[in-house]
Amino acid sequence: MSSASSSPSSSHHGAARPATGRKSPALKGQVRVPGDKSVSHRALLFGLLAAEETRITGLLEGEDVLNTAKACAALGAKVERLGDGEWRVEGVGTRGLSAPAEPLDFGNSGTGVRLMMGLVSGQPVSVAFDGDASLRRRPMKRVLDPLVEMGVQVEECAEGQRLPLRLKGSASLKAITYETPVPSAQVKSAVLLAGLGAPGETIVVEREATRDHTERMLTHFGADVRVEPHGAHGRRITLSGHPALKGAPVDVPADPSSAAFPLVAALIVPGSDVLLTDLMMNPLRTGLFTTLKEMGADIEILNERLEGGETVADLRVRHSRLRGVEVPPERAPAMIDEYPVLAAAAACAEGETIMRGLAELRVKESDRLAAVADGLAACGITHRVEGDDLIVTGGPVVGGGPVTTHMDHRIAMSFLILGLASEKGVSVDDVAFIATSFPTFMPMMRGLGAVID
Ligand code: S3P
Repeated sequence: MSSASSSPSSSHHGAARPATGRKSPALKGQVRVPGDKSVSHRALLFGLLAAEETRITGLLEGEDVLNTAKACAALGAKVERLGDGEWRVEGVGTRGLSAPAEPLDFGNSGTGVRLMMGLVSGQPVSVAFDGDASLRRRPMKRVLDPLVEMGVQVEECAEGQRLPLRLKGSASLKAITYETPVPSAQVKSAVLLAGLGAPGETIVVEREATRDHTERMLTHFGADVRVEPHGAHGRRITLSGHPALKGAPVDVPADPSSAAFPLVAALIVPGSDVLLTDLMMNPLRTGLFTTLKEMGADIEILNERLEGGETVADLRVRHSRLRGVEVPPERAPAMIDEYPVLAAAAACAEGETIMRGLAELRVKESDRLAAVADGLAACGITHRVEGDDLIVTGGPVVGGGPVTTHMDHRIAMSFLILGLASEKGVSVDDVAFIATSFPTFMPMMRGLGAVID
């Protein structure tokens, strides 16, 4: 296709920005990390499809979500920033999308592009999708397969079923029953969003339950969604097509995946005592907290409450002597984004931490299994990769680097955090991509006392 030869997008044209996390004094204080990324994307997307207005508070204003906001505007929604994290979306309704003149550019974000591909599939428009060099490397076949089965046309596509690509949707797709071949909330969500444009029932079956924000928020916007258990760890989700979605208020809780960084920092830096407030405690997102507690972490869950359909709590975290544990593969979907920072905690723990079933880490913003292993090697930490398992042997951390971050925000943040508990510091080659998910990471960590320069 013609646009396949064009350059990938990049909001980071300048030279790479290296940084070093250094041995830090005790971290102290209280912070609220930014809004949850998964919920933020979905609030905008459902706002686009809803009639009337959607008011969002606490929206994550990171680059990934801002790209989704731009895409919603390009498809016809009126998207307005009213203040800090406060946004208003005037939707076009489930039949009102307009075809954008330019390709929608999702930068670094797999969630943004995959969910939007599903959403557009159920609408009678032709839309081109693109992203940065990292996103262009990521697999889109996992989403295209079910969408094509439902009747969407792939008009153009780069080699290997990757971006850039163009889809033509239809408001009379075929409702299907789809068993996801990999545990992926993005694939599940893409099929459900396409199912909005299919008469009858679209059913997604997952062998291992993944984050359920799409199901919860679709219900909140007025769709008919039924969720039943399936097997030992899975779910069966049934959506009735052609609902009338109505704008609804969304208050985005703090992102547990971003909180993971100051949380692990507090655990590994001696003397630390940190309070993380307003964290979303959705059980399909809290695998890291469970694992760290098993490792001996002093994490106190305070003030648990229900807000906007999600359990929210404050976490008090104190420095702890961690010991290695085995993390079972079935826990992976509930902590899929947290393995890089768990590896940092494991490097500081006593004994071996065995993380099983990490195949999905290979297709994130980078091949995270390789990037974590290489980063640990650059810091002189004993580890091995056996198939899809990562085994880290903890002990005193000397430090090192530079760690190659491969356009991956979580690799950059994880190794900076490890540096805070090291003798000589850990440097990373580029911190620019941290802005995709946690734009306030540096000032927030420094505010707690972390030395990062
Ligand atoms: C997300 C799903 C996960 C996760 C990503 C956000 C979502 O990806 O890694 O950061 O919001 O649906 P997969 O669905 O590919 O596992």
